[in-house]
Amino acid sequence: WPAILAGLSLGYGLGSIPFGLLLTRAAGLGDIRGIGSGNIGATNVLRTGNKALAAVTLLLDALKGTAAILLARALLGPEAGLAAAIGAFLGHCFPIWLGFRGGKGVATFMGCLLALDWRAFVAFALVWLAAAFGTRYSSVGGLSASLVSALLPWWLGDPATSGALLVLTAILWLKHRPNIERLIAGTETKIGRKG
Ligand code: G3P
Repeated sequence: WPAILAGLSLGYGLGSIPFGLLLTRAAGLGDIRGIGSGNIGATNVLRTGNKALAAVTLLLDALKGTAAILLARALLGPEAGLAAAIGAFLGHCFPIWLGFRGGKGVATFMGCLLALDWRAFVAFALVWLAAAFGTRYSSVGGLSASLVSALLPWWLGDPATSGALLVLTAILWLKHRPNIERLIAGTETKIGRKG
């Protein structure tokens, strides 16, 4: 248990760094929470028109998940790695620094996959690309890719990793509730559009 708690805390600490907010502010673009969907993630940073900044947000929001897991594993052992994945994801979605109102978890989920199971990472990337570019909705990419990649390790004989990923998927879907409602209403914003 001490290692699990330490892994969770380490993950939360790294995951709660709101890169999208910090980068857009540093670039003089104002508060990202007042733009587009109001989300702090890469999809919304793209709505500022700055593609490079969106790419860096995606990369850093992903890598904080990867780094948390690798660090926890090296310092605290394998179970702490899974705990760090959950911690990093919770930190990103519910950061204490922003009154617990954080991102929707897609990039951080992907970064966690990179450290947990490369096959699930590849599955995520392929499903995201097919779904997001097929529909032009980023949210459809994240929703479908998270579910497929969370189930894959179970099918490959690793139910513990799948269990942790299904917890993350449930949170990711809950955080996308406004997107799901907009998709049903036909008012979701397409990739790169401002609103
Ligand atoms: O990565 C989050 C994405 O799935 C939706 O973002 O800004 O359109 O709510 P957004």
